[in-house]
Amino acid sequence: MKHLIESRDLSPSDTKGILDLADQIIREPAKYAQVCSGKKLATLFFEPSTRTRLSFEAAMMELGGNVIGFASADSTSASKGESVADTIRVVQNYADIVAMRHPKEGSAKVAALHASIPIINAGDGGHEHPTQTLTDLLTINSLLGRLDHITIGLCGDLTFGRTVHSLIHALMGYDHISFALISPQELTLPSYIREEMVGRDIPFKEVERLESVIDELDVLYMTRVQRERFFNEEDYIRLRDSYILDGAKMKQAKKEMIVLHPLPRVNEIAAEVDDDPRACYFKQVLYGKYVRMALIMTLLELEV
Ligand code: CP
Repeated sequence: MKHLIESRDLSPSDTKGILDLADQIIREPAKYAQVCSGKKLATLFFEPSTRTRLSFEAAMMELGGNVIGFASADSTSASKGESVADTIRVVQNYADIVAMRHPKEGSAKVAALHASIPIINAGDGGHEHPTQTLTDLLTINSLLGRLDHITIGLCGDLTFGRTVHSLIHALMGYDHISFALISPQELTLPSYIREEMVGRDIPFKEVERLESVIDELDVLYMTRVQRERFFNEEDYIRLRDSYILDGAKMKQAKKEMIVLHPLPRVNEIAAEVDDDPRACYFKQVLYGKYVRMALIMTLLELEV
């Protein structure tokens, strides 16, 4: 694995290696504190981020490395018309590895095609967000103790939700996974992913009401309806509050179910749910830092 662009770039053994390494880092962080000494990570964020950018930067610092980069396209030569390909040809002279977020689908792939250093897709438009998936897998494995025999509900914007697309691709590789796809008609899963699930005989059902499946779920993965992906504001306003997870709905769920969310949330999880022990979305954030430490080490082929 030279780059990480889509979750399908990760073989099951790549994923296992990264998750096992993240577990080791969690257990003995001091052992890894200098492993990236002398190395630089460039964080190229052409689209807003809190968790992904800061967790990558914290991850590199906790490995003893340094960070350069930008948090918005406005302050870069992209605003003067520089292409992604040229940006990467330049940045690879300054850094050893790149984490890049861009609003256009496929831009991370373009970057990888022109790069001599590893490129990590930190989110490309509505396409994929594979490091969120590694975060989700580490969280599920750590909290449930398994990545197989799971019924997972994915709820909200399944059309533009890149975290959902990446997570489905990754989970399809494990045994006995079934999916409940919960969305309004206007925000269902793209047909190319649905066809892949059918082709691989993966059990799934598509429903509009969260209440109709919540009692079957081991994992409930809530997502935000993303204003930035809509072409018109009216559609966004009509759909934004399609799902609100609250205390009443949590009463119908299994006692062992975990609630995840890639964050940021807007209205889709009521604040009252935060105190429920099954609400794990803030724990998920911390797992994101550890798994990115493991990913950086893996792509740079570093060991202790
Ligand atoms: N989960 C996630 O991608 O969050 P940010 O947009 O804050 O990076």
